[in-house]
Amino acid sequence: MGDYEDYARKNFEDHGPKVNAGKKKEVAFGIEEADALNAVNYPAKDTTTKAAAKAAPVAAVPAAATTESASTPVAAGAGVALGRGLDVGTANLVSSCQDSTGNVNLKIQRNAFIDIDCDDYTRNMLTRLGVQYVVVNNRMVVVGDPAFELANIFNRNTRRPMKDGMISPDESDALPIEKMLLETLLGQPQQQGEVCYYSVPAEPIDADLNVVYHQGVFGGLLKGLGYEPKPLIEGHAVVFSELAEDDFTGIGISCGGGMFNVCVAYKSIPALSFSTTRGGDWIDHNVASVLGISSSRACGMKEKGIDLTNPQGREEEAVEIYYRNLIAYTLKNIKERFESSATMPKFPDPVSIVCAGGTSMVGGFVEVFQEEFDKIQFPLEVKEIRLAEDPLYSVSKGCLVASLSESA
Ligand SMILES: Nc1ncnc2c1ncn2[C@@H]1O[C@H](COP(=O)(O)OP(=O)(O)O)[C@@H](O)[C@H]1O
Ligand SMILES: [Mg+2]
Repeated sequence: MGDYEDYARKNFEDHGPKVNAGKKKEVAFGIEEADALNAVNYPAKDTTTKAAAKAAPVAAVPAAATTESASTPVAAGAGVALGRGLDVGTANLVSSCQDSTGNVNLKIQRNAFIDIDCDDYTRNMLTRLGVQYVVVNNRMVVVGDPAFELANIFNRNTRRPMKDGMISPDESDALPIEKMLLETLLGQPQQQGEVCYYSVPAEPIDADLNVVYHQGVFGGLLKGLGYEPKPLIEGHAVVFSELAEDDFTGIGISCGGGMFNVCVAYKSIPALSFSTTRGGDWIDHNVASVLGISSSRACGMKEKGIDLTNPQGREEEAVEIYYRNLIAYTLKNIKERFESSATMPKFPDPVSIVCAGGTSMVGGFVEVFQEEFDKIQFPLEVKEIRLAEDPLYSVSKGCLVASLSESA
């Protein structure tokens, strides 16, 4: 173990990942570096929650929350490499950095919040539970994982700052909430202008959504924290974190809550990338409407550990039907776009398809993907369809790879 850590550290110090997103340049980030990145320190979800919970409540932040950070940022420990990764997802925000031993530290928070009436009873309860809150317009606001837990206690839905992969047009409080969440996850930079790559959706093919605004909003929030923000297309991030052994050639798919993001890359350069606004939320919504249950119930059932290859009962069958439809829809779109593009590189060898994101974590996902794949004439020879090593953290790790390569 010690040997491996020494090796990983030395490897990063000597070489550093030299992927340069979007630039035609020799790729010096190889298998060893990718393996070192996979020596991950997982965020014990409890630890993260407890750490946040211990902090004293920050009271009376102005409604617009435009003042400088009032909370205590999570300071990067000694020996953290320069460069951060941030996965900006509809369901989860995930930050990452690399410590001096070459391990990756990740933090994850639900991209959600809840506001509660500001009375003495509730305030005391939150303080007793050690839940951090801010007061906005005379309402107590709790963000991230604790918001999700409180929503269950109060039998309410959380509010969501993002929808379908982008900042939500329906949520006027989205910006100050995202600012608070980023402060919790990233803290302040180790030095002014530390690079932070953050994931953005590729252009959606089935919705008239404006990626430019969303990208600008998160760029602005990161800049406000003191980082130098750099956007990275989400599917491309999956290629960076999962396809090192294939010389960054192949297909990365991020299967999220709000979207699916696809990137076909050749030697680390994206040849084709797009997103669709169908993901886990789309499955929940459809399952809920055909079964006459709430979306959160449908989501709970989906996440509880079902097996798509052997659905039990009407509810699980509904989940399986929509999963299959979603996968077939994604494959059809890759095929059509690939075939209609005049500028596609030749892929001399068979490629891998790697799926990341929470929606890929359901039992039997790869099997159903393979079955749907076998039904169509795919334009590329594929040697393997597999899950990312850590589906929930893959995009953030890919963003970190890009940041480390620039900061080395
Ligand atoms: N074990 C699981 N089985 C199926 N779906 C899951 C599981 N765990 C999480 N999800 C789903 O994954 C989605 C969140 O994944 P994530 O990649 O974080 O999304 P986003 O990129 O949109 O933030 C949600 O729709 C959630 O219901
Ligand atoms: Mg995501």
